[in-house]
Amino acid sequence: EPLDEFVEELPRIPKILGYEERDGQIFPRNLTIGMYAKKWSFHRDMPATPVFVYGESEETASFPGPTIEAIQGVPTYITWENHLPLHHILPVDDTLPIPQSTTGVPAVVHLHGGVVAPDSDGSNYAWFTRDFAEKGENWSRSTYEYPNVQHPGNLLYHDHAFGITRLTILAGLFGNYIIRNPRVDEELNLPRGEGFDRHLVIADRDFNADGTIFMNTTGMNPEIHPIWRPEYYGDLITVNGKIWPTLKVQRRKYRFRIANACNARYLNITLSNEKPFIVVGSDGTHLGRPVKTPKLVMGATEIFDVVIDFNDVIGDELQIVNSNPNPNRAGIEGKEALVIKFLIQKDIVLDTSHVPEQLVNYAGLNVQENEIAATRYISFAEHYSDANLRTHLSINGLTLYDPATEMPKSGTTEEWYLINLTIDSHPLHIHLGTMQAAGDSYDIGDLDNFKICMNATNYDAAKCNVHGLLAGLHAETPEYEKTWKNVVKVSSGCMLRVIVKFFLVETNSTYPFDATKSPHYVYHCHTLDHEDNVMSRPLIIV
Ligand code: C2O
Ligand code: CU
Repeated sequence: EPLDEFVEELPRIPKILGYEERDGQIFPRNLTIGMYAKKWSFHRDMPATPVFVYGESEETASFPGPTIEAIQGVPTYITWENHLPLHHILPVDDTLPIPQSTTGVPAVVHLHGGVVAPDSDGSNYAWFTRDFAEKGENWSRSTYEYPNVQHPGNLLYHDHAFGITRLTILAGLFGNYIIRNPRVDEELNLPRGEGFDRHLVIADRDFNADGTIFMNTTGMNPEIHPIWRPEYYGDLITVNGKIWPTLKVQRRKYRFRIANACNARYLNITLSNEKPFIVVGSDGTHLGRPVKTPKLVMGATEIFDVVIDFNDVIGDELQIVNSNPNPNRAGIEGKEALVIKFLIQKDIVLDTSHVPEQLVNYAGLNVQENEIAATRYISFAEHYSDANLRTHLSINGLTLYDPATEMPKSGTTEEWYLINLTIDSHPLHIHLGTMQAAGDSYDIGDLDNFKICMNATNYDAAKCNVHGLLAGLHAETPEYEKTWKNVVKVSSGCMLRVIVKFFLVETNSTYPFDATKSPHYVYHCHTLDHEDNVMSRPLIIV
């Protein structure tokens, strides 16, 4: 039975304040948020789906988890509790390194984009099971401290246990986190307040007839990894936990914080009337000025903050349309284009918000040569055991389990040349760092460039015979990505220079420090299937 389209309303994501207001003053707050197994209705015509989700209680736990709203400069403390059952609801491939636990599904929470001390960062190895029965080697505390000292903007929190992140996030362990600065909000006067400033968290999923989440369980190379596949794609697109929802809107401007919560799929989204989105922010920062673009390309966990003015729409409906299909099969009859439909109400309403010409200007990209503390060449590769069989991925030929080679100094700025030797694009994410593309990507299909890259990253060029495949590929950095970001997409066959700033963190923690096995932080491809196997590297900030 095909599902009816656009029959349910966009759910309101529960909101939790990460601060307390008393007598006109703002104070830090302690929250307790648990991970729960429960059932979630993705569509009224489909049986409810077992999920793993975050919430203050099992009852209020939601897909995505509650949106946590913090105030810049006011810390939020969160005790994360694991109430997950003994077994995962999705098939675990134990040929990948995974946490060894017998007391339940291991989990650990990372605040994506957060400037956070290492013992609150949610290290891959800081996992714990139900009631803290078992803990990973990096576990050191049950309450995480989020100082919220960075720019106001959009972050995410999500699971980060190694080798199973793609499964726990697929099951629902992710949520939004906003850092606000009320003064900045007031000055900008973008659409705000109840209903006019909303999250749209887009996640593709596949379902079995009984409502359970479907994941293909035959590995791409079953001899080596019986279950793991390089990219999960779902045929149905959910927004805030509903398949193809609707949202009633007034004829006025709205701000939408759009997050890509797909495991692997890049979303390629447009508006059905072909009018542009007005982009005002990306990931954790605002843009310097608004950028109009008819199309947004979003890698996994990338966030764009956009304004849509429904007063400009002719007619009473508007859709967000996805044009990036599942590359592995046909999808279900073009249904992957369906995302959300806005139902525009008739009455003209007073709208005092506006999109200012200037947004927020941060320290720019013109970093002086002598301010660059290090230059690094970081290459992305996929390894084949023979012509067709993919076994694992790597960064500079290394994985999460190899000793750290990147040890930047806290508070410094570096330049990284990101070199993509594969036929996929990879969304790179760096913990404790923020990055910005410095110019466009350039082609490494050219043999000379290719050799330079190979030498820079210690590759055996003979084993990595891809330059022919990659010839002629290049990519422009779109205007709407020109700000400090948490995720940068590195296009196939390209080299991209990025400026990376590592934040200063002050910590008095006595966190275990062993560069060979306990990474403080990590940087990795955020295509979750790549990250798990194992396009991820330890990052030690000294
Ligand atoms: Cu969004 Cu290392 O994670
Ligand atoms: Cu990747």
